[in-house]
Amino acid sequence: MKRIKIADVLSGSLVGDPIVVKGWVRAFRANRFIQLNDGSTIKNIQAVVDFENFDEHTLKRVTIGSAIAITGKLVESQGSGQALEIQVERIDIIGEAHPDDIQKTVMQPKRHSLEFLREQAHLRFRTNTFGAVFRIRHAVSYAIHKFFNDRGFYYLHTPIITGSDAEGAGEMFRVSTLDPKNPPLTDDGNVDYSQDFFGKQVNLTVSGQLEAELGALALGQVYTFGPTFRAENSNTSRHLAEFWMIEPEVAFNDLTDNMDLTEDFLRYIADYVLTNCEDDLAFLNEREQKEQQSKPKNERSELSLIERLEFVRDNAFKRITYTEAIDYLLRSRPYKKNQFKFDVQWGIDLQSEHERYLVEREFQSPVIITDYPASIKAFYMRQNDDGKTVAAMDVLFPGIGEIVGGSQREERLDVLKAKCADFDIPEEELWWYLDTRRFGTVPHAGFGLGFERMVMFATGMTNIRDVIPFPRTPQNAEF
Ligand code: 4AD
Ligand code: MG
Repeated sequence: MKRIKIADVLSGSLVGDPIVVKGWVRAFRANRFIQLNDGSTIKNIQAVVDFENFDEHTLKRVTIGSAIAITGKLVESQGSGQALEIQVERIDIIGEAHPDDIQKTVMQPKRHSLEFLREQAHLRFRTNTFGAVFRIRHAVSYAIHKFFNDRGFYYLHTPIITGSDAEGAGEMFRVSTLDPKNPPLTDDGNVDYSQDFFGKQVNLTVSGQLEAELGALALGQVYTFGPTFRAENSNTSRHLAEFWMIEPEVAFNDLTDNMDLTEDFLRYIADYVLTNCEDDLAFLNEREQKEQQSKPKNERSELSLIERLEFVRDNAFKRITYTEAIDYLLRSRPYKKNQFKFDVQWGIDLQSEHERYLVEREFQSPVIITDYPASIKAFYMRQNDDGKTVAAMDVLFPGIGEIVGGSQREERLDVLKAKCADFDIPEEELWWYLDTRRFGTVPHAGFGLGFERMVMFATGMTNIRDVIPFPRTPQNAEF
């Protein structure tokens, strides 16, 4: 008989039929009730064993964590707590899990801390929480591709190994095959990268944007969705050294079009998760609610996970300029009471305490801040007529902070060249990028969504390490 996934079994159409399910044992109570999970849904199927019909040796091997196949008849459940159950006719042990070994693992059925679960990232998939998180991660990823495909965008694969530093932040991982103990040197004593694999210095990409722009200026609208690497030594709950980023780029769009696209996009993802991930979302919603109860009242979030997703789906984001943001901060209570750690004045890079104040206290809504000072943003952003600011936009989310960064791009060759000079970027390095401004340049715009930050928002997880299967952070590349 062919194996049936538990999600399909629970849909109910097979009542009365003989079926086979395969999965991992979550619990075996009173030598009678097996709870089996196969990853297709957060729900377990209950299988009822008439132990007199089974030899003791087989039943002893039905331990938590073991993999088994159950053959039996699907029936309406006698007990409460589940609608359906399987009357077991046959049990096959596929892979054993010894109870003594299980003791030390996250599979032991009790509440574990997320820190402990992180130490066993290879096993944490077996828990309800991480099953739910990674099913939702998949759904968000699919929704992203669907959103762009339905709107006629092309998925462009930009390189992972690159010679450019798109963001100009210099936080790159070098890629080299030179012997680190004995690298070839130039006459002036520097490492001679002309002898390296690519004949030049290269690194892991910090963004696919510059390449995406080249695509957009011919294909019209493209997006990238790939791994991104940043060697910033910030051990926070919102930074990874390896994360995934989605970067759409659209020819003929200006900053307003860009903001509209961002809002549609984030609203679509929220709606997709609400519609398609009901069981997992319900579990994570309840999990968060329990966790909230152990927190002091003023640290609890006012909306539940599901309500936050609904809020994004149903409400326009607040849009303000950087200059207005500074004004709001200067008029705020925490500023007047000296409660901000970092000073506030026009020209500063907004710190996360400032962003949190605006999103969580001033507006209690996602906020898009536009038109930042040129000096704190990347070289490619379009200069505004005031000469001081650029057509940048950051989207800030409650509980997350910056989730999207984007801009209208500088399409004017002379202005862009001047910008390169200001930022000490040699034109020879970016000749291919500058070329697009020579041949039929057009206004265009795009943005980058941090995929893991979106998954944090969709799951309510508060540490970014808990929404990527195998996190890469400073001093940590286990598994
Ligand atoms: O704001 P960023 O640096 O923008 C860019 O890279 C542009 N090239 C995007 C574009 O216009 N095409 O990064 C974009 C987003 C951030 O808003 C944040 O959500 C996420 O990427 N991000 C990180 N996520 C996890 N860990 C990190 N270290 C991140 N750095 C940025
Ligand atoms: Mg940014």
